[in-house]
Amino acid sequence: MRKTIVAGNWKMNASKESVDSLIKDILSGMHEVSSDVIVCAPFPYLSQVEALISNSNLMLGAQNLNVNSKGAFTGEVSANMIKDFGAQHVIVGHSERRSLYGESSAIVAEKTKASIDAGLTPILCVGESLEDRESGDTEIVVAEQLNAVISLLGIEAFNGIIVAYEPVWAIGTGLTATPEQAQSVHLFIRNLLAASDESIAKNTSILYGGSMNASNAADLISCPDIDGGLIGGAALKAADFLQICKAG
Ligand code: 13P
Repeated sequence: MRKTIVAGNWKMNASKESVDSLIKDILSGMHEVSSDVIVCAPFPYLSQVEALISNSNLMLGAQNLNVNSKGAFTGEVSANMIKDFGAQHVIVGHSERRSLYGESSAIVAEKTKASIDAGLTPILCVGESLEDRESGDTEIVVAEQLNAVISLLGIEAFNGIIVAYEPVWAIGTGLTATPEQAQSVHLFIRNLLAASDESIAKNTSILYGGSMNASNAADLISCPDIDGGLIGGAALKAADFLQICKAG
């Protein structure tokens, strides 16, 4: 049985004060939550979150990493540094990294490898743009993004990878994929993995992301191949985030 996972991606939204109250408010509602819950904080706040969540079942993640383990890479952060602050997860291949920072599927595969090598669980994001969807290329795009990781790391790597399907047109737009649209791509992803290894495919958690909120989460998460959510905007409000966590 795959456990429901809800991960919050705060993106570049945080202050010491807001992190303090957001985490405390989330923690106060965690006794009603049975899903696994992860918060992915901006780098400077990892240490603060680490301290706040000690002795709780809330888990910590980062939002990006450099493929190198150390060295002369000014401004960059390695997987080991992320681990050093108690994080177990890291988002790789978010569409904002792919589109705004030119991360190709090959780079995303390298980042996936660097995370796994350091003992982190990557949350590997895939998803099509509106243009891709309208031209009927959703499956081609998602397959290319997944195959880059399978070719570099082999299917076995998916024993330690969480996949997140995030249609770019649904991110931050308030436009959510319908449960049918999302389920169809989730099933495509699972079948693609199953073509290499059925049991790995069955056990891989595939999260949906893209304007998931307190009102639509339950309908999405109840689909057979949707195993939770990767939440942007709604993860910044404790009450909404907790409601999504409870939907799982
Ligand atoms: P929104 O929930 O704000 O649409 O963002 C989704 C996302 O990009 C999570 O990684």
